[in-house]
Amino acid sequence: MGNFVDFKEIEKQNEYVNKVKLLVNGKGKKAFVYTLGCQQNEADSEKIMGTLNKMGYQITENEKEADVLMVNTCAIRDHAEKRALSIIGRFKHYKAVNPDIIIGVCGCMSAQEHQREKLKHSYHYVDFTFGTGALHRLPEFIYNALNKKKRYFDIDSDKPQIAEGIETLRQSTYRAWVSIMYGCNNFCTYCIVPYVRGRERSRKMEDILCEIRDLVEKGYKDITLLGQNVNSYGKDLDEKTNISALLNEISKIEGDFWIHLMTSHPKDASIEMIEAIKSSPRTSGHFHLPLQSGSDEILKKMNRHYDLERYLSIIAKLRENNENITLTTDLIVGFPGESEEDFNLTLDVIKKVKYDSVFSFIYSPRKGTPAAAMENQIPSEEQHRRYDILCDAQNEISKKINESYIGTAQKVLVDGKSKNNEGVYTSRTQGNKIVHFECEKDYTGQFKTVKITRADTFALYGEII
Ligand code: 5AD
Ligand code: SF4
Repeated sequence: MGNFVDFKEIEKQNEYVNKVKLLVNGKGKKAFVYTLGCQQNEADSEKIMGTLNKMGYQITENEKEADVLMVNTCAIRDHAEKRALSIIGRFKHYKAVNPDIIIGVCGCMSAQEHQREKLKHSYHYVDFTFGTGALHRLPEFIYNALNKKKRYFDIDSDKPQIAEGIETLRQSTYRAWVSIMYGCNNFCTYCIVPYVRGRERSRKMEDILCEIRDLVEKGYKDITLLGQNVNSYGKDLDEKTNISALLNEISKIEGDFWIHLMTSHPKDASIEMIEAIKSSPRTSGHFHLPLQSGSDEILKKMNRHYDLERYLSIIAKLRENNENITLTTDLIVGFPGESEEDFNLTLDVIKKVKYDSVFSFIYSPRKGTPAAAMENQIPSEEQHRRYDILCDAQNEISKKINESYIGTAQKVLVDGKSKNNEGVYTSRTQGNKIVHFECEKDYTGQFKTVKITRADTFALYGEII
C-alpha cells in the first residue's frame, strides 16, 4: 500500500488497545504528554493523547499524578533537544518513587540514532522511544511496557508511513490542526527535518475533506492545514492532485471558518496556488512564506532553489489586489559563511517587504546535515549580535504596521481570558494578530468585532463592538 499503513497493522494495534484497556480501565490511571516544537508536533500529541485516552488513560496536566509520562520531542535546534533532555531528566525522580510508571519519548529527537543511543544508555528509566512515523504503534509500546517487556527503541520510523483513523483528542473546540502531508524532500542544508520525518507523503484528498467537514460541523472556526511543504501536496499521490485543487474543494464547504497554510516553500509556490489563496476570503487573510536569507549566495548554500527576485515576485503576486494580507516569514541568522554583507541583504528585505512579524532563528548546527560540516561557522557572539539587530529592526516595523490598525474594526476569534490581566480577553485576527480587549461576557471560541484603539509591537488593543 505504498505510503499507507496497511489494514492488518491497524487491526493489530486495535487489539493492543483492547488488551491495555483490560489492564487499565476503571483504575483511575492517568497520562501526561509534554509537547515541544512545531504545530506538527502539537497535532501528533493530540493523536498520542487520543490513543492514550482510548486505552483508558485520563489525560492530566499534572505530571506528578501521571502513570504514563510521554515527551514529544523536537530536533530543529540544539536548544529544543536540550529542553527535551532536561524534561526527561526530571521524570527520573517519578520512576524512582514508583517503578510502575511508564516513560516514553517520541518525536523528531528520538528518530535520530545518536539520540536514541543516548536515551538507551544514559536514561535507563525510559521504557521506549519511537519517531514520528511509528505513532500508530503506541498501543503496542504501552502494552509491552505494562507487561515489563524489554525496553524498546524503535527504528521503524526510519521509513515512516501514513496511518488514518488514529483517535485525536483536540485541545481546542474552535481551532484545529489538519495534517495534509508529512515529511519533506527538500534537504535544505541546515535542516534535520527530512532525516527525522522522512520523505513527503500526502494524505488522500477525500480523507482531508472528510476531516474538515466534520470539524466545521462541530463548530471549528480556524483550521490550519499542516505540512512541511504544503505547496507540494499531492505530488506523490496516484490520483494526481495539488494544493490549489485541495483549496478549491475546501472552499465548497459551507460555514464560517478560516483556513491557514503552514508552511510553504517559495520554490513550489505556483501562480495557481497564489490565485487559489486569494480567491477565497477564508484563505486570503494571512500567508507565511519562509525566506531564510536575503542573500542569493546564502540561499544557494542553503539549497533553497530560489533567489531573492523570485521570492519577491511571489510576495508581489500575493499582495496584488489583496493589500490587506498579513505576511510573516522565517529567517536564519549566522548561517555558515554569512558575511556582514549577506546579513545586511536580509535586513534590507525585511525593510522592503515589511512583514507583519518575523520568526528569526540563530543557526544551530544539526548533526548529519551538510551545513554542520561547512567551513566558516559564525561565532555565537556574532550570531547573537546580528540576531539582536534583526529583531530590533523588525520590532520597529511591526509596531508601525500595528499602529496603522488604530481606528479600524477587526473580526477576531476569541481565545479566552488573558493570563495576566483581569477582565481582559485575548483573541486573534485572521491575519494572526493578537487583539486584547476588555469584556464582561466570555465569548471564547466565537467570532467578534473589535474596534482597535491602541497598538504596540506585539499586539493590538480595543473595544468589542
Ligand atoms: N538552525 C536554525 N534554524 C533552523 N530552522 C530549521 N533548521 C534550523 C537550524 N538548523 C528554522 C527555519 C525553518 C524554521 C521552522 O526553523 O527557519 O523555517
Ligand atoms: Fe527543513 Fe527545508 Fe524541509 Fe522546511 S523545506 S522542513 S526548512 S528541509
